[in-house]
Amino acid sequence: MSRAQEFHKMIENSRLVAEEILDKDAPAFTSESHNRPTGENRLYLGDNIHAMLSLIEDGFKGRLDLVYIDPPFFSGSDYRKRISIGKGDDELVFYNNAYKDTWKDGLMDYLGMISIRLFLIWELLSEKGTIYVHVDSRTSHYMRLILDEVFGENKFLNEIIWSYKSGGAGRKSFSKKHDNILVYTKTKDFIFNPLKEKSYNRGMKPYRFKNVLEYEDEIGWHTLVNMKDVWNVDMVGRTSSERVGYETQKPEALLQRIIKASSNEDSIVGDFFMGSGTTIKVAEKNGRRWIGADNSIHSVVTCASRLGDSAGYTLFHNLDMEDSIIDFSVDVNRTSEGICVSIEDISIDKNFITKNSSDPELAEKILKEKPSKYIDYLGVYRVNIHRECIREWYGPEIEMEFDLEDSFQKEDRIVIRLIDIFGNIAEKELEG
Ligand SMILES: C[S@@+](CC[C@H](N)C(=O)[O-])C[C@H]1O[C@@H](n2cnc3c(N)ncnc32)[C@H](O)[C@@H]1O
Repeated sequence: MSRAQEFHKMIENSRLVAEEILDKDAPAFTSESHNRPTGENRLYLGDNIHAMLSLIEDGFKGRLDLVYIDPPFFSGSDYRKRISIGKGDDELVFYNNAYKDTWKDGLMDYLGMISIRLFLIWELLSEKGTIYVHVDSRTSHYMRLILDEVFGENKFLNEIIWSYKSGGAGRKSFSKKHDNILVYTKTKDFIFNPLKEKSYNRGMKPYRFKNVLEYEDEIGWHTLVNMKDVWNVDMVGRTSSERVGYETQKPEALLQRIIKASSNEDSIVGDFFMGSGTTIKVAEKNGRRWIGADNSIHSVVTCASRLGDSAGYTLFHNLDMEDSIIDFSVDVNRTSEGICVSIEDISIDKNFITKNSSDPELAEKILKEKPSKYIDYLGVYRVNIHRECIREWYGPEIEMEFDLEDSFQKEDRIVIRLIDIFGNIAEKELEG
Protein backbone atom coordinates (compact mmCIF):
# COMPACT_ATOMS: atom_id res chain seq x y z
CA MET A 1 0.00 0.00 0.00
CA SER A 2 1.36 3.45 -0.84
CA ARG A 3 1.80 6.10 1.86
CA ALA A 4 -1.12 8.05 0.40
CA GLN A 5 -3.37 4.98 0.60
CA GLU A 6 -2.24 4.27 4.15
CA PHE A 7 -3.01 7.85 5.09
CA HIS A 8 -6.46 7.74 3.52
CA LYS A 9 -7.24 4.49 5.35
CA MET A 10 -6.00 5.94 8.64
CA ILE A 11 -8.20 9.04 8.35
CA GLU A 12 -11.34 7.12 7.43
CA ASN A 13 -10.73 4.65 10.23
CA SER A 14 -10.16 7.48 12.74
CA ARG A 15 -13.39 9.15 11.64
CA LEU A 16 -15.29 5.91 12.31
CA VAL A 17 -13.57 5.31 15.64
CA ALA A 18 -14.40 8.87 16.74
CA GLU A 19 -18.06 8.35 15.77
CA GLU A 20 -18.15 5.12 17.77
CA ILE A 21 -16.55 6.86 20.77
CA LEU A 22 -19.13 9.63 20.60
CA ASP A 23 -21.88 7.00 20.88
CA LYS A 24 -20.42 5.68 24.14
CA ASP A 25 -21.10 6.80 27.69
CA ALA A 26 -18.31 8.64 29.48
CA PRO A 27 -16.51 6.56 32.09
CA ALA A 28 -17.37 7.47 35.67
CA PHE A 29 -14.85 9.82 37.29
CA THR A 30 -14.39 10.68 40.93
CA SER A 31 -14.60 14.44 41.20
CA GLU A 32 -13.15 16.61 43.94
CA SER A 33 -13.16 20.33 44.43
CA HIS A 34 -10.02 22.34 45.11
CA ASN A 35 -10.03 25.89 46.50
CA ARG A 36 -13.81 26.32 46.32
CA PRO A 37 -14.26 26.20 42.54
CA THR A 38 -16.72 28.78 41.32
CA GLY A 39 -16.40 28.48 37.57
CA GLU A 40 -16.00 25.65 35.15
CA ASN A 41 -12.29 25.04 35.58
CA ARG A 42 -11.53 21.34 35.36
CA LEU A 43 -8.46 19.14 35.53
CA TYR A 44 -8.72 15.58 34.27
CA LEU A 45 -6.28 12.83 35.15
CA GLY A 46 -6.91 10.18 32.51
CA ASP A 47 -6.89 9.52 28.81
CA ASN A 48 -8.01 12.66 27.03
CA ILE A 49 -10.65 10.68 25.10
CA HIS A 50 -12.36 9.95 28.42
CA ALA A 51 -11.98 13.58 29.48
CA MET A 52 -13.58 14.76 26.24
CA LEU A 53 -16.47 12.29 26.56
CA SER A 54 -17.06 13.45 30.13
CA LEU A 55 -17.10 17.08 28.95
CA ILE A 56 -19.56 16.31 26.18
CA GLU A 57 -21.80 14.50 28.66
CA ASP A 58 -21.62 17.51 31.00
CA GLY A 59 -22.76 19.95 28.32
CA PHE A 60 -19.44 21.37 27.11
CA LYS A 61 -20.09 20.52 23.45
CA GLY A 62 -19.51 23.64 21.34
CA ARG A 63 -18.35 25.74 24.31
CA LEU A 64 -14.56 25.94 24.11
CA ASP A 65 -13.29 29.04 22.30
CA LEU A 66 -9.68 27.90 22.21
CA VAL A 67 -7.88 24.56 22.30
CA TYR A 68 -4.09 24.34 22.26
CA ILE A 69 -2.52 20.89 22.02
CA ASP A 70 1.13 19.97 22.22
CA PRO A 71 0.97 16.19 21.83
CA PRO A 72 3.93 13.81 21.73
CA PHE A 73 5.85 14.61 18.52
CA PHE A 74 6.54 11.07 17.21
CA SER A 75 10.07 11.57 18.48
CA GLY A 76 10.74 7.90 19.30
CA SER A 77 11.84 8.88 22.83
CA ASP A 78 10.22 8.58 26.20
CA TYR A 79 10.17 11.65 28.44
CA ARG A 80 10.96 12.11 32.07
CA LYS A 81 10.38 14.44 34.94
CA ARG A 82 13.52 15.40 36.84
CA ILE A 83 13.12 15.55 40.59
CA SER A 84 15.83 16.31 43.07
CA ILE A 85 15.76 16.07 46.82
CA GLY A 86 18.33 17.51 49.19
CA LYS A 87 20.98 20.09 48.38
CA GLY A 88 24.73 20.28 47.65
CA ASP A 89 26.60 17.04 48.28
CA ASP A 90 23.40 15.45 49.55
CA GLU A 91 21.45 16.22 46.40
CA LEU A 92 19.78 13.15 44.97
CA VAL A 93 18.39 13.23 41.46
CA PHE A 94 15.61 11.00 40.16
CA TYR A 95 14.21 10.70 36.69
CA ASN A 96 10.62 9.58 36.50
CA ASN A 97 8.99 8.39 33.36
CA ALA A 98 6.50 11.13 32.59
CA TYR A 99 5.14 10.00 29.22
CA LYS A 100 5.92 7.84 26.21
CA ASP A 101 6.44 8.88 22.61
CA THR A 102 7.37 5.54 21.09
CA TRP A 103 4.99 3.94 18.58
CA LYS A 104 5.55 0.28 17.93
CA ASP A 105 3.07 0.25 15.03
CA GLY A 106 4.69 3.21 13.35
CA LEU A 107 3.64 6.55 11.96
CA MET A 108 0.03 5.73 11.01
CA ASP A 109 -0.60 4.44 14.54
CA TYR A 110 0.59 7.79 15.91
CA LEU A 111 -1.34 9.84 13.36
CA GLY A 112 -4.48 7.79 14.06
CA MET A 113 -4.17 8.54 17.79
CA ILE A 114 -4.05 12.28 17.05
CA SER A 115 -6.76 12.23 14.36
CA ILE A 116 -9.34 10.57 16.61
CA ARG A 117 -8.75 13.24 19.24
CA LEU A 118 -8.98 16.05 16.69
CA PHE A 119 -12.40 14.80 15.57
CA LEU A 120 -13.51 14.94 19.23
CA ILE A 121 -11.98 18.39 19.83
CA TRP A 122 -13.96 19.65 16.83
CA GLU A 123 -17.14 18.73 18.74
CA LEU A 124 -16.02 20.72 21.80
CA LEU A 125 -14.98 23.88 19.97
CA SER A 126 -17.44 26.75 19.86
CA GLU A 127 -18.57 28.39 16.62
CA LYS A 128 -15.99 31.14 17.39
CA GLY A 129 -13.37 28.55 18.29
CA THR A 130 -9.76 28.07 17.19
CA ILE A 131 -7.37 25.15 17.57
CA TYR A 132 -3.59 25.41 17.77
CA VAL A 133 -1.76 22.13 17.09
CA HIS A 134 1.88 22.25 18.13
CA VAL A 135 4.13 19.79 16.26
CA ASP A 136 7.48 19.89 14.50
CA SER A 137 8.91 19.07 11.09
CA ARG A 138 8.63 15.32 11.76
CA THR A 139 4.86 15.36 11.29
CA SER A 140 3.70 18.89 10.42
CA HIS A 141 3.06 17.93 6.77
CA TYR A 142 0.77 15.07 7.81
CA MET A 143 -0.88 17.12 10.53
CA ARG A 144 -1.81 19.78 8.00
CA LEU A 145 -3.58 17.16 5.88
CA ILE A 146 -5.35 15.72 8.93
CA LEU A 147 -6.54 19.17 10.00
CA ASP A 148 -7.74 19.84 6.43
CA GLU A 149 -9.83 16.66 6.76
CA VAL A 150 -11.20 17.41 10.23
CA PHE A 151 -11.74 21.18 9.99
CA GLY A 152 -11.77 21.80 6.22
CA GLU A 153 -8.91 23.30 4.24
CA ASN A 154 -10.70 26.67 4.08
CA LYS A 155 -10.51 26.87 7.90
CA PHE A 156 -6.71 27.02 7.89
CA LEU A 157 -5.65 30.28 9.54
CA ASN A 158 -1.89 30.19 10.10
CA GLU A 159 1.20 28.13 10.40
CA ILE A 160 3.17 29.73 13.20
CA ILE A 161 6.87 29.07 13.22
CA TRP A 162 8.19 29.08 16.76
CA SER A 163 11.90 29.75 16.38
CA TYR A 164 14.19 29.20 19.35
CA LYS A 165 17.78 28.74 20.40
CA SER A 166 18.77 25.43 21.96
CA GLY A 167 21.84 23.26 22.37
CA GLY A 168 23.07 20.97 19.56
CA ALA A 169 23.83 21.88 15.98
CA GLY A 170 23.14 20.16 12.66
CA ARG A 171 26.26 18.83 10.92
CA LYS A 172 24.72 17.32 7.83
CA SER A 173 21.71 19.63 7.60
CA PHE A 174 20.76 23.08 8.82
CA SER A 175 20.12 22.97 12.57
CA LYS A 176 16.47 22.24 13.26
CA LYS A 177 15.46 25.04 15.60
CA HIS A 178 11.79 25.63 15.08
CA ASP A 179 8.43 24.05 15.83
CA ASN A 180 5.28 24.36 13.73
CA ILE A 181 2.01 25.46 15.28
CA LEU A 182 -0.91 24.86 12.92
CA VAL A 183 -3.93 27.04 13.48
CA TYR A 184 -7.44 26.18 12.24
CA THR A 185 -10.80 27.69 13.10
CA LYS A 186 -14.15 26.00 13.45
CA THR A 187 -16.03 28.56 11.31
CA LYS A 188 -15.20 31.80 9.53
CA ASP A 189 -16.52 33.79 12.51
CA PHE A 190 -13.69 33.22 14.98
CA ILE A 191 -12.15 35.24 17.82
CA PHE A 192 -8.99 37.02 16.77
CA ASN A 193 -7.46 39.85 18.76
CA PRO A 194 -4.49 41.15 16.74
CA LEU A 195 -1.28 41.40 18.72
CA LYS A 196 1.47 43.91 18.15
CA GLU A 197 5.21 43.46 17.90
CA LYS A 198 8.17 45.77 17.53
CA SER A 199 9.54 46.40 14.06
CA TYR A 200 12.96 48.07 14.23
CA ASN A 201 13.73 50.90 11.83
CA ARG A 202 16.62 50.57 9.43
CA GLY A 203 19.74 51.82 11.18
CA MET A 204 17.67 51.91 14.39
CA LYS A 205 17.11 55.61 13.73
CA PRO A 206 13.77 57.48 13.80
CA TYR A 207 12.02 57.90 10.39
CA ARG A 208 9.79 60.76 11.58
CA PHE A 209 7.01 59.94 9.06
CA LYS A 210 3.82 61.93 9.52
CA ASN A 211 1.17 60.14 11.65
CA VAL A 212 3.43 57.16 12.44
CA LEU A 213 4.12 56.57 16.12
CA GLU A 214 7.70 55.62 16.84
CA TYR A 215 9.27 54.36 20.06
CA GLU A 216 12.80 53.98 21.35
CA ASP A 217 14.17 51.19 23.53
CA GLU A 218 17.67 49.94 24.38
CA ILE A 219 18.07 48.48 20.86
CA GLY A 220 16.82 51.47 18.93
CA TRP A 221 13.87 53.17 17.24
CA HIS A 222 10.91 51.05 16.18
CA THR A 223 7.23 51.09 15.32
CA LEU A 224 4.56 48.65 16.49
CA VAL A 225 3.12 46.43 13.75
CA ASN A 226 0.63 43.55 13.70
CA MET A 227 2.39 40.39 14.79
CA LYS A 228 3.78 38.13 12.07
CA ASP A 229 3.70 34.34 11.98
CA VAL A 230 7.36 33.74 12.88
CA TRP A 231 7.77 33.94 16.64
CA ASN A 232 11.13 34.26 18.34
CA VAL A 233 10.42 33.18 21.90
CA ASP A 234 13.01 31.74 24.26
CA MET A 235 12.67 28.10 25.26
CA VAL A 236 12.37 27.20 28.93
CA GLY A 237 16.12 26.87 29.46
CA ARG A 238 18.06 25.18 32.24
CA THR A 239 18.28 28.37 34.25
CA SER A 240 14.81 29.71 33.53
CA SER A 241 12.74 30.57 36.59
CA GLU A 242 9.71 28.99 34.87
CA ARG A 243 11.34 25.59 34.74
CA VAL A 244 9.47 22.88 36.63
CA GLY A 245 11.54 19.91 35.46
CA TYR A 246 8.91 18.45 33.10
CA GLU A 247 10.68 17.69 29.82
CA THR A 248 9.07 19.41 26.81
CA GLN A 249 7.65 22.20 29.00
CA LYS A 250 6.66 25.14 26.77
CA PRO A 251 7.30 28.80 27.65
CA GLU A 252 4.53 30.88 29.15
CA ALA A 253 5.28 33.68 26.66
CA LEU A 254 4.23 31.39 23.80
CA LEU A 255 0.90 30.54 25.41
CA GLN A 256 0.38 34.17 26.39
CA ARG A 257 0.31 35.12 22.70
CA ILE A 258 -2.03 32.27 21.77
CA ILE A 259 -4.46 32.90 24.61
CA LYS A 260 -4.54 36.67 24.13
CA ALA A 261 -5.06 36.38 20.37
CA SER A 262 -7.69 33.64 20.26
CA SER A 263 -9.78 33.93 23.41
CA ASN A 264 -11.67 36.57 25.37
CA GLU A 265 -12.17 37.04 29.09
CA ASP A 266 -15.30 34.87 29.20
CA SER A 267 -13.77 32.12 27.04
CA ILE A 268 -13.07 28.54 28.06
CA VAL A 269 -9.58 27.43 27.02
CA GLY A 270 -8.71 23.73 26.73
CA ASP A 271 -5.48 21.74 26.61
CA PHE A 272 -5.86 17.96 26.31
CA PHE A 273 -2.13 17.17 26.43
CA MET A 274 -1.38 19.59 29.20
CA GLY A 275 1.99 18.26 30.47
CA SER A 276 3.36 20.65 33.07
CA GLY A 277 0.23 22.82 32.70
CA THR A 278 1.64 25.87 30.91
CA THR A 279 -1.64 26.57 29.08
CA ILE A 280 -3.64 26.24 32.29
CA LYS A 281 -1.34 28.52 34.25
CA VAL A 282 -1.42 31.23 31.56
CA ALA A 283 -5.19 30.90 31.06
CA GLU A 284 -5.68 31.36 34.81
CA LYS A 285 -3.33 34.36 34.85
CA ASN A 286 -5.35 35.98 32.06
CA GLY A 287 -8.71 35.42 33.75
CA ARG A 288 -9.89 32.71 31.36
CA ARG A 289 -11.82 29.62 32.39
CA TRP A 290 -9.88 26.47 31.54
CA ILE A 291 -9.94 22.70 31.10
CA GLY A 292 -6.81 20.57 31.21
CA ALA A 293 -6.32 16.84 30.76
CA ASP A 294 -3.36 14.49 30.91
CA ASN A 295 -2.97 10.80 31.63
CA SER A 296 0.22 11.24 33.65
CA ILE A 297 -0.03 11.76 37.40
CA HIS A 298 3.20 13.76 37.22
CA SER A 299 1.51 16.17 34.85
CA VAL A 300 -1.50 16.71 37.08
CA VAL A 301 0.56 17.13 40.26
CA THR A 302 2.94 19.53 38.47
CA CYS A 303 0.09 21.59 37.02
CA ALA A 304 -1.80 21.73 40.34
CA SER A 305 1.38 22.76 42.13
CA ARG A 306 2.01 25.54 39.57
CA LEU A 307 -1.52 26.85 40.15
CA GLY A 308 -1.05 26.89 43.93
CA ASP A 309 -4.14 27.86 45.86
CA SER A 310 -4.96 30.82 43.64
CA ALA A 311 -7.23 28.86 41.33
CA GLY A 312 -10.45 27.04 42.11
CA TYR A 313 -11.10 23.93 40.05
CA THR A 314 -12.59 20.46 40.05
CA LEU A 315 -10.28 17.51 39.61
CA PHE A 316 -11.64 14.42 37.86
CA HIS A 317 -9.72 11.20 38.29
CA ASN A 318 -9.85 7.47 38.75
CA LEU A 319 -6.90 6.90 41.03
CA ASP A 320 -5.94 3.27 41.17
CA MET A 321 -4.36 2.43 44.49
CA GLU A 322 -4.81 -1.31 44.43
CA ASP A 323 -1.19 -2.36 43.96
CA SER A 324 0.29 0.75 45.47
CA ILE A 325 3.82 0.32 46.74
CA ILE A 326 3.53 3.14 49.25
CA ASP A 327 1.88 2.95 52.64
CA PHE A 328 1.65 5.03 55.81
CA SER A 329 -0.27 5.35 59.04
CA VAL A 330 -1.94 8.33 60.64
CA ASP A 331 -2.04 9.36 64.26
CA VAL A 332 -4.69 11.83 65.38
CA ASN A 333 -4.73 13.81 68.62
CA ARG A 334 -7.49 16.11 69.72
CA THR A 335 -6.02 19.11 71.52
CA SER A 336 -7.67 22.24 72.92
CA GLU A 337 -6.84 24.05 69.64
CA GLY A 338 -8.15 21.41 67.29
CA ILE A 339 -6.93 18.20 65.76
CA CYS A 340 -3.25 17.42 65.36
CA VAL A 341 -2.54 14.92 62.59
CA SER A 342 0.80 13.12 62.15
CA ILE A 343 1.72 10.97 59.19
CA GLU A 344 3.86 8.11 60.39
CA ASP A 345 5.56 4.90 59.22
CA ILE A 346 5.84 5.93 55.58
CA SER A 347 7.03 2.94 53.59
CA ILE A 348 7.88 2.89 49.91
CA ASP A 349 9.18 -0.09 47.97
CA LYS A 350 12.96 0.10 48.12
CA ASN A 351 13.41 -1.00 44.50
CA PHE A 352 11.40 1.92 43.29
CA ILE A 353 13.61 4.29 45.20
CA THR A 354 16.94 2.86 44.13
CA LYS A 355 16.05 2.05 40.51
CA ASN A 356 15.96 5.59 39.12
CA SER A 357 18.33 7.23 41.53
CA SER A 358 21.67 8.88 40.78
CA ASP A 359 22.98 7.35 44.04
CA PRO A 360 21.11 4.17 45.11
CA GLU A 361 22.95 3.92 48.44
CA LEU A 362 22.10 7.44 49.52
CA ALA A 363 18.56 6.91 48.24
CA GLU A 364 18.15 3.90 50.51
CA LYS A 365 19.66 5.71 53.48
CA ILE A 366 17.18 8.57 53.12
CA LEU A 367 14.36 6.06 52.83
CA LYS A 368 15.33 4.62 56.20
CA GLU A 369 16.03 7.91 57.97
CA LYS A 370 13.52 10.37 56.52
CA PRO A 371 11.07 8.75 54.09
CA SER A 372 8.91 11.89 54.06
CA LYS A 373 11.56 13.43 51.75
CA TYR A 374 10.07 11.27 49.01
CA ILE A 375 6.62 12.76 49.39
CA ASP A 376 5.62 15.15 46.62
CA TYR A 377 2.03 15.77 47.66
CA LEU A 378 -0.06 15.66 50.82
CA GLY A 379 -3.77 16.40 50.65
CA VAL A 380 -6.61 16.33 53.16
CA TYR A 381 -10.11 15.74 51.84
CA ARG A 382 -13.55 15.94 53.38
CA VAL A 383 -15.75 13.28 51.81
CA ASN A 384 -19.50 13.77 51.84
CA ILE A 385 -21.58 13.40 48.70
CA HIS A 386 -18.78 15.31 47.05
CA ARG A 387 -15.07 15.26 47.82
CA GLU A 388 -13.61 18.56 48.89
CA CYS A 389 -9.90 19.23 49.36
CA ILE A 390 -9.48 21.21 52.57
CA ARG A 391 -5.67 21.46 52.80
CA GLU A 392 -2.84 20.48 50.47
CA TRP A 393 0.91 20.78 50.26
CA TYR A 394 3.39 20.18 47.45
CA GLY A 395 6.99 19.03 47.78
CA PRO A 396 9.82 19.26 48.41
CA GLU A 397 10.12 18.85 52.18
CA ILE A 398 6.51 18.67 53.30
CA GLU A 399 5.95 18.64 57.09
CA MET A 400 4.23 15.43 58.10
CA GLU A 401 2.50 16.95 61.11
CA PHE A 402 -0.25 19.54 60.86
CA ASP A 403 -3.30 20.91 62.63
CA LEU A 404 -6.83 20.67 61.34
CA GLU A 405 -9.70 22.81 62.51
CA ASP A 406 -11.87 21.08 65.05
CA SER A 407 -14.95 21.66 62.93
CA PHE A 408 -15.47 18.15 61.74
CA GLN A 409 -18.63 16.34 62.55
CA LYS A 410 -18.80 12.70 63.55
CA GLU A 411 -20.33 11.86 60.18
CA ASP A 412 -17.56 13.59 58.16
CA ARG A 413 -15.20 11.23 56.44
CA ILE A 414 -11.69 12.66 56.18
CA VAL A 415 -9.25 11.16 53.72
CA ILE A 416 -5.51 11.84 53.70
CA ARG A 417 -3.71 11.32 50.40
CA LEU A 418 0.02 10.98 49.84
CA ILE A 419 1.71 10.91 46.44
CA ASP A 420 5.41 10.13 46.27
CA ILE A 421 7.82 11.61 43.76
CA PHE A 422 7.42 8.51 41.60
CA GLY A 423 3.68 9.02 41.28
CA ASN A 424 2.61 6.25 43.67
CA ILE A 425 -0.49 7.07 45.65
CA ALA A 426 -1.85 6.00 49.03
CA GLU A 427 -4.87 7.11 51.00
CA LYS A 428 -6.03 6.66 54.58
CA GLU A 429 -9.34 7.47 56.14
CA LEU A 430 -9.80 9.23 59.49
CA GLU A 431 -12.77 8.77 61.75
CA GLY A 432 -14.88 11.91 62.33
C1 LIG B 1 4.61 17.44 24.96
S1 LIG B 1 3.82 17.12 26.47
C2 LIG B 1 2.94 18.61 26.77
C3 LIG B 1 3.82 19.67 27.34
C4 LIG B 1 3.07 20.93 27.72
N1 LIG B 1 2.65 21.69 26.58
C5 LIG B 1 3.88 21.79 28.67
O1 LIG B 1 4.04 23.00 28.43
O2 LIG B 1 4.38 21.26 29.66
C6 LIG B 1 2.59 15.96 26.01
C7 LIG B 1 1.70 15.46 27.13
O3 LIG B 1 0.67 14.66 26.57
C8 LIG B 1 0.30 13.69 27.51
N2 LIG B 1 -0.46 12.63 26.83
C9 LIG B 1 -0.02 11.77 25.86
N3 LIG B 1 -1.01 10.96 25.47
C10 LIG B 1 -2.12 11.30 26.19
C11 LIG B 1 -3.46 10.81 26.23
N4 LIG B 1 -3.85 9.81 25.44
N5 LIG B 1 -4.31 11.37 27.11
C12 LIG B 1 -3.91 12.40 27.92
N6 LIG B 1 -2.66 12.90 27.91
C13 LIG B 1 -1.77 12.37 27.05
C14 LIG B 1 1.62 13.23 28.09
O4 LIG B 1 1.46 12.63 29.37
C15 LIG B 1 2.39 14.56 28.15
O5 LIG B 1 2.32 15.13 29.44
